[in-house]
Amino acid sequence: KVVAVIMVGGPTKGTRFRPLSFNTPKPLFPLAGQPMVHHPISACKRIPNLAQIFLIGFYDEKEFALYVSSISNELRVPVRYLKEDKPHGSAGGLYHFRNLIMEDSPSHIFLLNCDVCCNFPLPDMLAHKRYGGMGTMLVVKVSAESANQFGTLVSDPVTNELLHYTEKPETFVSDLINCGVYIFTPDVFSAIEDVSNDREDRVTANLRRLSSIDISTSTRTNIPTDFVRLDQDILSPLSGKKQLYTYETMDYWEQIKTPGISLKCSGLYLAQFRLTSPHLLASGDGTRSATVVGDVFVHPSAKVHPTAKIGPNVSISANVRVGPGVRLISCIILDDVELEDNAIVINSIVGWKSSLGRWSRVQADGDYNSKLGITILGESVVVEQEVVVVNSIVLPNKILNVSVQDEIIL
Ligand code: GDD
Repeated sequence: KVVAVIMVGGPTKGTRFRPLSFNTPKPLFPLAGQPMVHHPISACKRIPNLAQIFLIGFYDEKEFALYVSSISNELRVPVRYLKEDKPHGSAGGLYHFRNLIMEDSPSHIFLLNCDVCCNFPLPDMLAHKRYGGMGTMLVVKVSAESANQFGTLVSDPVTNELLHYTEKPETFVSDLINCGVYIFTPDVFSAIEDVSNDREDRVTANLRRLSSIDISTSTRTNIPTDFVRLDQDILSPLSGKKQLYTYETMDYWEQIKTPGISLKCSGLYLAQFRLTSPHLLASGDGTRSATVVGDVFVHPSAKVHPTAKIGPNVSISANVRVGPGVRLISCIILDDVELEDNAIVINSIVGWKSSLGRWSRVQADGDYNSKLGITILGESVVVEQEVVVVNSIVLPNKILNVSVQDEIIL
């Protein structure tokens, strides 16, 4: 048997995702009309002998309850949310729930970061069995300039062994990086245990030393021996020891840290639907329904006027109303948004319950990597008629009655 674990983090993480993470946990933000975490979860369907899927995080259980129960029914595989009482780090979180994860005595454990966008070639990664060792990580080549934002590595071109690993190095090491997608044998738990035992030993030694000087200066309660990071504490020390191997993907891969990138990833997942689940894409018959260009997702509860034109890369969530003559290109329109006649949205994300008046425009130049390259309206923003919003971020509950450009409206 095999189990899958998806690390979802918690509310103190994902601050770069504001203002979209104010009310919705980042892992539930919709990409291509499905919660971010849904994409790795549905990739798990392709794993043979999958017994369970666990989501581990420190968000409130109730945030995930609805999604977890509906996806369990849909996949017919138990999906459980396990809540940490505090952050334990990416490896510490896994270790914290080792007894539950090992319940079905799995031979392998997939571990996925929830904030990466790729086609998750999980069945291919089972080829790891050929290497032996403790684990295999998915890796990808990125541009030399961007490599230092990730875990960078050197891998043996013949055996695929991980020879060297440095997390977010200051100078250039390699353009091959860690994708945040792994397969491990249960030996990973002993490796994590070794790190925390090592820490405990050091803490005890320190306390002894301190108590011989002055016990009151001891900071005994502040040292978290159970906080273990997968990258620095496990991957770095175990590289070059015939324990870890790499599997390189030639397909798309992105890390979803900012709203701008999430719009790009929404498009990548819509394109993927074309291959895997074309029934999720809108077709538009040209008479009774709107004109559809390229890959578009429209939630069944949304009402789109037949004279609207939408796409490519457009995703429209529940209960949205799209009025006559509206034009949408490369955007995410979140639940309960109202778009009045002839409004235009380009390269933007429109937050829940916002409304755009007649002939208004919300747009940006579409540079996913720059801070204002995508216009973002937070929840319940009102853009009055004929107002133009360009390359801007608007925080929740603002009313815009004059046009703005290159601004962050607080
Ligand atoms: N449950 C839980 N508890 N999850 C956590 C915790 C924790 O204490 N800390 C981090 N995570 C989750 C995050 O939500 C994310 O999905 C994943 O673990 C990794 O997060 P970070 O440890 O913050 O690392 P990162 O995202 O900056 O970089 C990692 O991923 C990159 C790929 O996206 C590293 O592994 C890099 O090497 C890698 O390139």
